[in-house]
This record gives sequence, structure tokens and C-alpha cells, in this order.
Amino acid sequence: MNKVTLKDKTFRTSIPYERIMTAIDQVAAKINADFRGCTDVPVLLCVLNGSIMFTAELMKRLEFNCQIVSTKLTSYEGTNTTGKVKQAMGMTADITGRRVIVIEDIVDSGNTIVELKRILEEKGASESRICTMLLKPDAYKKDVKLDYVAMEIPNDFIVGFGLDYDELGRNFKDIYILDE
Ligand code: IMP
Ligand code: MG
Repeated sequence: MNKVTLKDKTFRTSIPYERIMTAIDQVAAKINADFRGCTDVPVLLCVLNGSIMFTAELMKRLEFNCQIVSTKLTSYEGTNTTGKVKQAMGMTADITGRRVIVIEDIVDSGNTIVELKRILEEKGASESRICTMLLKPDAYKKDVKLDYVAMEIPNDFIVGFGLDYDELGRNFKDIYILDE
């Protein structure tokens, strides 16, 4: 599939599945280097819905005991951020005193991770790190440290591998870019 249409927009292949897998291998190796042999059970915080595929691929590669917890935050409407982050679903388990690795699909403006960091501090996580599959460096203006970044991309709208356009396209195994 070279081109796909979702509602009123056409997208073309941008990052093929194989390249995504290689990038996830590399980021998983870094996390393993930092956490292998740990005596606690770190939490992988899956930020629904976008991170679902990335979380699944990443966790297969992790070589230490870890626990999946999910939460849901929303900020996007169509192809733009609203600038307001809403926690649409609380955390599925108590993370008090735990080390948390936030698993994000993409960091764009950074509003979502700033809010997540605030929530994690409020809930009493002992430490929080950010792991994101994608980063748009030209859009990111916050100073929250991004501990693990699998891939950097230009400031364009993309779908696939969990990312959506109005909830569509999450099922694509490759990543597609808006074709204008
Ligand atoms: P931020 O709060 O602006 O950093 O945006 C983070 C959230 O917006 C991500 O977790 C995605 O759910 C969504 N998002 C940002 N950029 C894109 C994109 O290019 N395609 C689809 N969703 C995106
Ligand atoms: Mg997201």
C-alpha cells in the first residue's frame, strides 16, 4: 500500500514497518541497558490510544520484570492539537512509589508529556522517564527531558502504527504522511 485515503485526506508511505522495527530494537536496547537487573518492577505507562502498538512491540524486547499500566489523554482534533490536554481515563493501577516509564507514540508540542509528568508527580511516582516512538523536534518547545526517542521526524502530520486521523488509520503497520 503506497497511498491510503482516510475521510477527506490522502497519505503516502513515510516510514516502512521494517524501519520502525529497527528503531524499536535500538530504543529497547537502551532501556534494557538502564534497567536490566533492577530489583524493583518498573511500570510501563501506555498512553492510550496512540501508544498501543508501540507499547506492545517495545515490551516484547524488554528483559526485566515490568508492569503495564494504562491511562488515556487527549488533545488532538483532526490534524491539529487543541492545546488543551484532557485526562480521559485515569491510571489503571496505583503507581505510588514506583519508577514509571511513560510510553508515548509521539511528542509534538509536548503538552501531553508536561501534563503526564505533573500527574505522575501528584500520584507519587518515585521517578518518571519518557520513552517516545516519534519526536517532532521542530514542534517541541518544552524542557521536559526525553529519555528515550526511537525516531525523529519533520513537523508533518502522520498516521499509522497506532497514530490516527480522527480515530482512523491506527491499524496500519507502516507510518504514512499527509500527501498534499
Ligand atoms: P503533544 O501534546 O502536542 O506533544 O501531542 C501529543 C499527542 O498528539 C500524541 O500523543 C498524539 O496522540 C497526537 N499527535 C501529535 N502529532 C500527531 C500526528 O502527526 N499524527 C497523529 N497524532 C498526533
Ligand atoms: Mg498519544
